[in-house]
Amino acid sequence: MAQDLSIHNPKRDIRDHYLFEIATEVANRVGGIYSVIKSKAPVTTAEYGDRYCLIGPLNKASAAVEVEALTPTNPHLAKTIESMEERGISMVYGRWLIEGAPRVLLIDTKTAYRFLDEWKADLWNTAGIPSPPGDDETNEAVVFGYLVAWFLGEFVAHETEKAVIAHFHEWLSGVALPLCKKRRIDVTTIFTTHATLLGRYLCAGSVDFYNNLQYFDVDAEAGKRGIYHRYCIERASAHSCDVFTTVSHITAYESEHLLKRKPDGVLPNGLNVTKFSAMHEFQNLHQQAKEKIHDFVRGHFYGHNDFDPDNTLYFFTAGRYEYRNKGVDMFIESLARLNHRLKSAGSKMTIVSFIIMPAQTQSLTVEALKGQAVIKSLRDTVDVIERGVGKRIFERALKWHDGDAMPDDKDLISSQDKILLRRRLFAMKRHGLPPIVTHNMANDAEDPILNQIRRVQLFNHPSDRVKIVFHPEFLNSANPVLPMDYDDFVRGTHLGVFSSYYEPWGYTPAECTVMGVPSITTNLSGFGCYMEELIENSTDYGIYIVDRRMKGVDDSVNQLTSFMYDFANKSRRQRINQRNRTERLSDLLDWKRMGMEYVKARQLALRRAYPASFEGEDDEDYIPGVEQKISRPFSVPGSPRDRSGMMTPGDFASLQEGREGLSTEDYVAWKLPEEEDPEEYPFPL
Ligand code: UDP
Ligand code: G6P
Ligand code: GLC
Repeated sequence: MAQDLSIHNPKRDIRDHYLFEIATEVANRVGGIYSVIKSKAPVTTAEYGDRYCLIGPLNKASAAVEVEALTPTNPHLAKTIESMEERGISMVYGRWLIEGAPRVLLIDTKTAYRFLDEWKADLWNTAGIPSPPGDDETNEAVVFGYLVAWFLGEFVAHETEKAVIAHFHEWLSGVALPLCKKRRIDVTTIFTTHATLLGRYLCAGSVDFYNNLQYFDVDAEAGKRGIYHRYCIERASAHSCDVFTTVSHITAYESEHLLKRKPDGVLPNGLNVTKFSAMHEFQNLHQQAKEKIHDFVRGHFYGHNDFDPDNTLYFFTAGRYEYRNKGVDMFIESLARLNHRLKSAGSKMTIVSFIIMPAQTQSLTVEALKGQAVIKSLRDTVDVIERGVGKRIFERALKWHDGDAMPDDKDLISSQDKILLRRRLFAMKRHGLPPIVTHNMANDAEDPILNQIRRVQLFNHPSDRVKIVFHPEFLNSANPVLPMDYDDFVRGTHLGVFSSYYEPWGYTPAECTVMGVPSITTNLSGFGCYMEELIENSTDYGIYIVDRRMKGVDDSVNQLTSFMYDFANKSRRQRINQRNRTERLSDLLDWKRMGMEYVKARQLALRRAYPASFEGEDDEDYIPGVEQKISRPFSVPGSPRDRSGMMTPGDFASLQEGREGLSTEDYVAWKLPEEEDPEEYPFPL
């Protein structure tokens, strides 16, 4: 990107620079972007200390829980905040209460809505971006963008000695990018897109996306979907930043065609990997968490608890509710085929499959609550009986004399105990089948997941080997029905299934991997492609990759079914061994390694803005002081491909000066999929 370099003061110190990272999910969970910034915080604060600050819009409810307010000690920051507050803008500065404890600045956009019309007009006049009325999400993006540009402009007016990098995530935070450029604000900028708007919308419909990527008339497609103005913001963000990046090679390819700029590089997502002192601690945690899932299942399936916990496996999928993009259509279809195969083979295994996807709901169902209550009462009653029996044995034993008969077990349970127990057993009688869904849905009759389950008739019948539980809300340990946090739940399961059709990265399978839980993903997800590139025989490592590129839909469904079927036939020993191998891949996903690409992107942003400061330095060198080379992980398993010279994924991207973004050959292993014929789909689109 050619940029007018005169806007940057060459005297700014690049070594001790500031880093602002801007996203709408700062201290506010929506989806994967929250996972990116939260899990990356420890490595970024280790590198920058208090020169790092995240900026996001204030969400009072989540900030109250996640953020502790502080008074800024940096005088430039304090002055900037003060001057904005004087103009009526409220904000919270503080410490995000997560590992790494990064500083955050959360701006209350509500206090700036009086400028909305003025700013919308300005956006049109200066950047040619329209913002029609009635789109709250865009209004919010405009107000937030103007506030961020205001903040950055003021900040560099106060802090005139050090360079400033502003790193923006996703179009929702991107409005400030064209503004920084137009207003010639002396910051250098990076934009990371975690998807493209058009990609998400086109894939959610019934378009053959991957075969037509190069041919879409982008303006017309955006217009047809009523998102032209949002698309303009995204495209302007991609074009006005100094360094443009995305999270995977698939999305790089997509960005080139849909946003019309080749990314400068790929910044894949890492995780903050927990290392336990005991090697197999994660296996113990699996066992403990699985017990909690057993408890839920006992309640949910009361009256039909005719499967043995030792022969039961827990499969799940989770994420934002994007039915087709997240591959839930394919998952349910494959579960139906799996059910059929297991039944035909006379398998004694039961697969309980969870779908965790937030939808509009009214409340938990009475039936779901009752299930847990009935089992709790049963357990309480059994505890009382058990104590009584114990007491009676003890009493009789005290009175026992040589020659007496042993206490008769028939007399140990009193008739009162029997009545109590009988009452509990009757309470467990149930006329209908165990429910599919745990909540009252706002739109039960039209819900795509429920309709698909109805179509394939997976109704939790006793003869079904595959059972389904749809939990249309993110997990939370305060939930009375399934009281577990998401991480805890994942640990207790056996297999995560994420058969996505559109997935720029896909944190969910990556999170499974670092917890030692095998997962199934696809070669249309950034994570799937990344692992496929890196590991030979990834299946052995518990990374199953369904081919959704080269195969027809029916074949992909069969492949997914076979993966699940083979998994169901593994012995416990085989599952334990596989979990050990999966967990060994964790280092590949650790931010300590992945974070290197962020370092390179920032490096390039500084080079582009302050070329004079780099004169005489080797192009490949890192800025002294920011240097953070990372050595090869210790526990790379034997068979992942030995890619000397390609230690981090960005090495096959560029992120180097002198190149106008990735070249198309950089999209390694990217091949166009076979033509898709929607007629062949085994499920309605
Ligand atoms: N997630 C969660 N609670 C749940 C289910 C999922 O917090 O009950 C999180 C999960 O940990 C993951 C994120 O939601 O980090 C989804 O991110 P992903 O990248 O898979 O998809 P996105 O929503 O960004 O498209
Ligand atoms: C872990 C525990 C073992 C347990 C096993 C169950 O490895 O350390 O004690 O037997 O999990 O594995 P499964 O795949 O049957 O849940
Ligand atoms: C987006 C994508 C998801 C990715 C996440 C973080 O929301 O949908 O695939 O993992 O961003 O980059």
